[in-house]
Amino acid sequence: MAETKKLFIKTYGCQMNVYDSERMGEALEASGYVTTQTPDDADMILLNTCHIREKAAEKIYSELGRMKAHKVNNPDLKIGVAGCVAQAEGREIMRRQPAVDLVVGPQSYHRLAEMEAKTRRGEKALDTDFPIEDKFEVLKNRPKARRAPTAFLTVQEGCDKFCAFCVVPYTRGAESSRPVQRIVDEAKDLVERGVREITLLGQNVNAYHGAGIDGNEWGLAQLIWELDKVDGLERIRFTTSHPNDMQDDLIEAHEHCSKLMPYLHLPVQSGSDRILKRMNRSHTAESYLRLIERIRKARPDILMSGDFIVGFPEETEADFQATLDLIEEVRYGYAYSFKYSTRPGTPAAERAQVDDAEANERLQRLQALIFRQQMEIQQSMVGREVTVLLEKPGRDSGQMVGKSEYLHAVHINDCTAQPGDLVKARITEAVRNSLAGAMV
Ligand code: SAH
Ligand code: SF4
Ligand code: F3S
Repeated sequence: MAETKKLFIKTYGCQMNVYDSERMGEALEASGYVTTQTPDDADMILLNTCHIREKAAEKIYSELGRMKAHKVNNPDLKIGVAGCVAQAEGREIMRRQPAVDLVVGPQSYHRLAEMEAKTRRGEKALDTDFPIEDKFEVLKNRPKARRAPTAFLTVQEGCDKFCAFCVVPYTRGAESSRPVQRIVDEAKDLVERGVREITLLGQNVNAYHGAGIDGNEWGLAQLIWELDKVDGLERIRFTTSHPNDMQDDLIEAHEHCSKLMPYLHLPVQSGSDRILKRMNRSHTAESYLRLIERIRKARPDILMSGDFIVGFPEETEADFQATLDLIEEVRYGYAYSFKYSTRPGTPAAERAQVDDAEANERLQRLQALIFRQQMEIQQSMVGREVTVLLEKPGRDSGQMVGKSEYLHAVHINDCTAQPGDLVKARITEAVRNSLAGAMV
């Protein structure tokens, strides 16, 4: 048994990084690491990074500057960079910040233990390959620790769509799907450890096309129906979807599969066909709206969420107005909106950029509209009965917090049930970011 060492992981970016950070923690358990909540006493610090916008990537270098200070008190401390910045910038990271000992891209986490050993021999370790072996298969032997009631499970990774603004196809590589059986096994393992709700993850999760149990290729809907059979698994979600991959059987699953929750994150990015075309999105505003119509026909109460980019190169006030019009028509329960950020190497980086003040102003207008919709929808929940999956005790004594079917956070006072329980609650009040409910 190796001596116990402490690992501090800081996670940035999307849910897939959250999932990957867990896997990295497990990969280093074999080398004697336990995770710690602070960098102060760590023997290894790992930053799991995001490259999606310039700010996200630059933040890493200032954080590395701060983390480096810990080496003064602890000369044995190793610092590693994982995730999408690691993939995009590779060795450049060690050049800009020589305190970095290890750089590992998202496709090489199964080699982490070996790489850590290399740093212990005083060498630098770098791996940003796209190997052919299944990293998750190599990472799978994990201890049966009890877990929170909700978990992420990556089923698909990478993207072949090459939207003109986006780095993901370069940092996560070509699209690939894990086989159904491995996903089902992992889901059963999670359920044995107390998980009740699983969110299936993929950069293009609805493009999922993994090897099915019958030897044929299965789509996401078939995978969901297979997971539906897992006893003890109560809720299934998936994210993020692309409008072009929303197949009929997936829409039907929203109608018929009771474990599939009525919430769908379906980014559109813009409401202007001219801009959508320049973004290489290959859908129109109209086709997106008709798609949502079909989804709502299958599941009328479904809560829609989306992503928007404002100030994309060449975006005019009229283009932006078309985005606001689309938002008015859809009515979003949640939305994530970003000012366009130039990413070196992507096609849009070469084009005429929108004035920064103009872009900021558009972002504010868009966010005000989204906020209003969000509040209206939350307000409309008052008086309705929802089912809440309890996650943890709330701030007040006797209070529990969980999520409704629609992913709203619900606080329940005088709650006698436990985390992991599903309880019926009537919504009594909508507050800024959450709902209050009473058990029925
Ligand atoms: N796989 C997801 C996107 C991941 S990135 C999908 O296809 O929807 C999450 C969001 O970040 C995107 O939907 C987009 O709205 C935003 N984004 C991506 N690149 C960006 C850039 N260069 N500038 C601003 N926002 C960006
Ligand atoms: Fe990026 Fe999503 Fe477009 Fe792929 S589909 S390039 S991940 S925004
Ligand atoms: Fe960021 Fe990579 Fe996710 S760029 S959003 S961490 S896929």
